Amino acid sequence: MIILGIETSCDETGIALFHTEKGLLSQALYSQIEMHNEYGGVVPELASRDHINRVLPLIKQNLQLAQIDLNQINAIAYTQGPGLAGALLVGASIANALAFSMRIPILEIHHLEGHLLSPLLTNPSITFPFIALLVSGGHTQLIRVDNVAQYEILGETVDDAAGEAFDKTAKLLGLGYPGGKSLALLAEKGKSGRFAFPRPMRNSGDFNFSFSGLKTAVQTLVKNIETTDQTKADIALAFQEAVVDILVEKSLTALTHCGLRDLVVAGGVGANLQLRKQITLEATKLGASVHFPELAFCTDNGAMIAFAGAMRIMKNVNCDTHQHAHYDYTVKARWNLETTL
Ligand code: KG4
Ligand code: ZN
Repeated sequence: MIILGIETSCDETGIALFHTEKGLLSQALYSQIEMHNEYGGVVPELASRDHINRVLPLIKQNLQLAQIDLNQINAIAYTQGPGLAGALLVGASIANALAFSMRIPILEIHHLEGHLLSPLLTNPSITFPFIALLVSGGHTQLIRVDNVAQYEILGETVDDAAGEAFDKTAKLLGLGYPGGKSLALLAEKGKSGRFAFPRPMRNSGDFNFSFSGLKTAVQTLVKNIETTDQTKADIALAFQEAVVDILVEKSLTALTHCGLRDLVVAGGVGANLQLRKQITLEATKLGASVHFPELAFCTDNGAMIAFAGAMRIMKNVNCDTHQHAHYDYTVKARWNLETTL
């Protein structure tokens, strides 16, 4: 079976074709980052309008890359939520219109399910159950994953997401949007030990996180000292160290708590090399393994949505409910991952 994946939940239009036997056939991505950078963050209405222009050309590009015809697609998977309502509606409308005209099934995918299953896209040897650390611009969650659609949220952020904290701190240091990657690059030039930021909720006794205080600590510091290039790099490093420490510590505690040996790290912040290094090192000491998606599949993309659709079809999970007996569809700007079954 060939599944078309459509991702339009935020500022990336991601389209891909996944074959249930042959794997990923093609993928193409258009990032709106440059457009939003001018405003220091995502402008929802601009995002929706841009998705409208990108989806169909990217689908055509995928068909060419995979060398298949539109009528060879057997199902369409699209991100139904969570995300920006207008942006989601673009993907939902096109997905539903296409599926209706082709009389093929449609799969409504939770964006975070796409992220947390993404390491399995290139590494099918990862087996359930596992713990997933999901760290993106909008979410920070520790999830026990027993199977496709069997998710238990162990803990999550009570305020800013890890990626959001990276972005806000990057802004304070005069870096562009989104700032996670540039902050990580700047941190490479930093000297360790000059600044120390708090590790919020380290001893909270649960699996929740809090990052807004960390950003405030950086804000207070930046206001009170002269920020030379070296100082900015030192701050970036100290900030990254604090975030990584907390993420690593809570993830390993979750592994031990659940008696599991496999940890999946997914979402945009999962591209952070320091996080990858430290979490692998510490997990190895525990005899556990850490799995990451390929860097290209860490941030938003269509492949993870097509793949999540394929997994649902292969596992026969909630995938034959929507055969277009009706014309209505909806998007879910907010959507609890535990309710996707
Ligand atoms: O998963 P994603 O592409 O989009 C959401 O679903 O939110 O994640 C984007 C987030 C942004 O906050 C971005 O700054 C962060 O991931 N990010 C990073 C790195 N690359 C992307 N954060 C830290 N280090 C990185 N290398
Ligand atoms: Zn995402």
